[in-house]
Amino acid sequence: MALPDDIRTGLSLPAICAPMFLVSGPDLARESCKAGIMGVLPRHNAQSIEQFEAWLFGVRDDLDAHVAQGGSVAPLATNVTLLAADETQRFFDACSRARVDIVISAFGNPTEHIQRVHDRGMRAFHDVTNIRFAEKALEAGADGLIGIGAGGGGHSGTISHLALIPRLRQMFDGVLVLAGAVTDGATVRAAEWQRRTAGERAALSARRSRHRSAEFNHAAGDRRA
Ligand SMILES: Cc1cc2nc3c(=O)[nH]c(=O)nc-3n(C[C@H](O)[C@H](O)[C@H](O)COP(=O)(O)O)c2cc1C
Repeated sequence: MALPDDIRTGLSLPAICAPMFLVSGPDLARESCKAGIMGVLPRHNAQSIEQFEAWLFGVRDDLDAHVAQGGSVAPLATNVTLLAADETQRFFDACSRARVDIVISAFGNPTEHIQRVHDRGMRAFHDVTNIRFAEKALEAGADGLIGIGAGGGGHSGTISHLALIPRLRQMFDGVLVLAGAVTDGATVRAAEWQRRTAGERAALSARRSRHRSAEFNHAAGDRRA
């Protein structure tokens, strides 16, 4: 599936600057968006919900100023793992007020988070490292899956992308993000090849077998002649 227009807008590359515990802060999120890749601000990197709100609203103000000066900005996302019960509503309300485009959740059953995201008109992506987690995310209504394959940082994926990504694509026609060990041109190229859907693979394989069968008939005809 092609990226929805509102996500594509402002992206100079179809890439996310991954949320990283203890690493991603407002500067990285803001500069990623200004550079044309999706920036992500994790809730858990702020010491308190007040600090998170200050970061998030500050990033949005800076991005608005950048647009006012003629610049373009990529979508802004937040990242949520576990939330204290007493700050749940405040977190999602802050995302909505800051016009966050996507909330990326990781760990656990995302059903309630995704419902809150949808209630506020945002999109929900969920990190998945195996098929069971993907099934749970899809049952919960995720708009996007982030398939973290082997080599992914942050103590994450263990399954080869060669197995994980095609299987996720068979299960899901929405936005699928490949993550893990994408570090250079060769791995980006490999990721592009992974875009082939199971259907495309099947069509390719059917074309190949028709071609082989035609070659065989031709050769058999040669032998009979
Ligand atoms: C230091 C570090 C911290 C991470 N922390 C988070 C996090 O807080 N939330 C999250 O959703 N993913 C986290 N991840 C996973 C990344 O978002 C991303 O999926 C992963 O790094 C992709 O693999 P790569 O590092 O090989 O590119 C972390 C990764 C690293 C390396």
